[in-house]
Amino acid sequence: MNILFMGPPGAGKGTQAERIVEEFSIPHISTGDAFRLAMKQGTPIGLKAKEYIDQGLLVPDEITNGIVKERLAQDDCANGFLLDGFPRTIQQAEALDAMLQELGRSIDHVVNLSVDRDLLLARLTGRRICKTCGATYHVLFNPPKTEGICDKDGGELYQRSDDSEEKVGTRLDEYTSKTAPLLSFYGDKGLLREVNGEQDINVVTAEIISTLRGSL
Ligand code: AP5
Ligand code: ZN
Repeated sequence: MNILFMGPPGAGKGTQAERIVEEFSIPHISTGDAFRLAMKQGTPIGLKAKEYIDQGLLVPDEITNGIVKERLAQDDCANGFLLDGFPRTIQQAEALDAMLQELGRSIDHVVNLSVDRDLLLARLTGRRICKTCGATYHVLFNPPKTEGICDKDGGELYQRSDDSEEKVGTRLDEYTSKTAPLLSFYGDKGLLREVNGEQDINVVTAEIISTLRGSL
């Protein structure tokens, strides 16, 4: 199954993706994670991406498209994948169509998680991530058993540098002007599956799974 996850920053894409890839045994491709890894390693792409990410702006399409194209061509994507955070512009969506066509594949479902702006702000500023495994927590909504420590592997939790209140504002504006138009792009193709992302994390997971299994 070939799935895209859409939704504004903080809608729960990463949280749900971790669960959905396990359920369907498919790889999780997150452009945000790919950029953060490249930044940590200090690669040329990482250094370029940092200029934009640090300001809360989208990374230019040509850089982002290249990363996805390379990843989708790998063998483990042949039987399905979950793309999280890509595409984010109409140009990226068109580039994705071309990449998939070349590979003889197509998108089955575009899951859109919708969440109100005020709640997004609270979610992002309270988010904490494991340094070791990348698992996502929230200080109030999804706290680890021990403060600051990952439940899964004891890793230390940190706050993303683009999760400050000021940068979150810019990221939400970028979403509204550049990414939200994709909803009608995929709606017109009959691929959009709307899920209310304001519900409890487990309820959202269950709803996504039943939507993907076609029982809704
Ligand atoms: P990226 O890493 O993709 O960030 P994002 O889209 O801003 O999304 P987030 O990771 O912030 O949120 P999420 O929806 O995954 O929410 P999460 O599950 O963590 O991108 C980062 C940057 O990279 C971009 O700003 C851009 O610069 C660049 N970039 C990436 N892709 C790009 C592209 N295609 N083109 C150009 N540039 C690109 O949840 C958030 C918090 O809420 C967590 O603490 C979680 O525990 C909590 N939570 C989740 N669900 C619930 C729930 N149901 N109830 C209560 N709490 C919840
Ligand atoms: Zn961990």
